[in-house]
Amino acid sequence: MTLLTAKVLDRWEEAPDIASLRLVRADGGTLPPFSPGAHIDVYLPGGHVRQYSLCNGPNEKGDYRIAVLRAPGSRGGSIAVHEQLHVGDIVTIGTPRNTFPLQHEQRSVLLAGGIGITPLLSMAKHLCELDCDFSLHYCARSPARTAFREELAASRFAHRVHYHFDDGPPEQKFSVEAAIGAPTPGVGIFVCGPSGFIEHVRRGAERGGFAPDQVHAEYFGAEPQGAYGDRPFIIQIASTGQQIVVGAERTAVQALAAAGIEIMTSCEQGFCGTCVTRVLAGECDHRDICLSAEEKERNAAFTPCCSRASTPLLVLDL
Ligand code: FES
Repeated sequence: MTLLTAKVLDRWEEAPDIASLRLVRADGGTLPPFSPGAHIDVYLPGGHVRQYSLCNGPNEKGDYRIAVLRAPGSRGGSIAVHEQLHVGDIVTIGTPRNTFPLQHEQRSVLLAGGIGITPLLSMAKHLCELDCDFSLHYCARSPARTAFREELAASRFAHRVHYHFDDGPPEQKFSVEAAIGAPTPGVGIFVCGPSGFIEHVRRGAERGGFAPDQVHAEYFGAEPQGAYGDRPFIIQIASTGQQIVVGAERTAVQALAAAGIEIMTSCEQGFCGTCVTRVLAGECDHRDICLSAEEKERNAAFTPCCSRASTPLLVLDL
């Protein structure tokens, strides 16, 4: 990932507590292209680094658009955006990365929980441009607190958008089964939102007969467990046999970095999946929310930014 210097070109209130920002390169250059579902790291005032999905469609190439919810209980990231990022400010961003890629299916079902709409908005614009079959189900608290309503209403895919409001009548409430339909091959389910929403969708898809790999998820508003623990453990590097002690006070990524082994990270909180590393032996104490229950059960992958070991030794495919 390369860092870029960006400028806040525009900013507006998308809905109460949701700020939309338009970022351009500060030097007037061209921004790198990206695929739908991609996010950028934003280096915020106060030293926070946060990941925000890009909302742009395929024809919106001159800027990066992000939308940020002022999260209750924010650890500083969303507050910094809302209170300290203004039009004209300069901000460092990373080049786009995609841990939630859109796979072109015969039919795509996009399921958004709240601000989880952002990557799905980009996907919907791309699918519409390609004339693909898709539907977008957007769950939100109320019409007044729903971001992008005007943009969605004015889009060419407005007829594919279904709203489900917490304060709406029962007949419009969200039903996973109704949204995803029959479990036919060639259907891809893309879900983004809080972990509870995603688990609800995963369980509904499983009950409905969908294969786990038909559900693609990205977490927002994640509440990962702490990355530190009171038990040290040892990581063995499979390619060299080197053993590295991960003390109780540091994460596996930190211990590996101290030994000169850099792991690419992004969120460092267990929800983006950037750091996922193959496990060859030992058992993980999974503390992330990006691996599925099945992946955790298989114990073949590990998120060293936050997860630990439940056995004294973990052998990683490094
Ligand atoms: Fe995001 Fe590890 S860096 S899950």
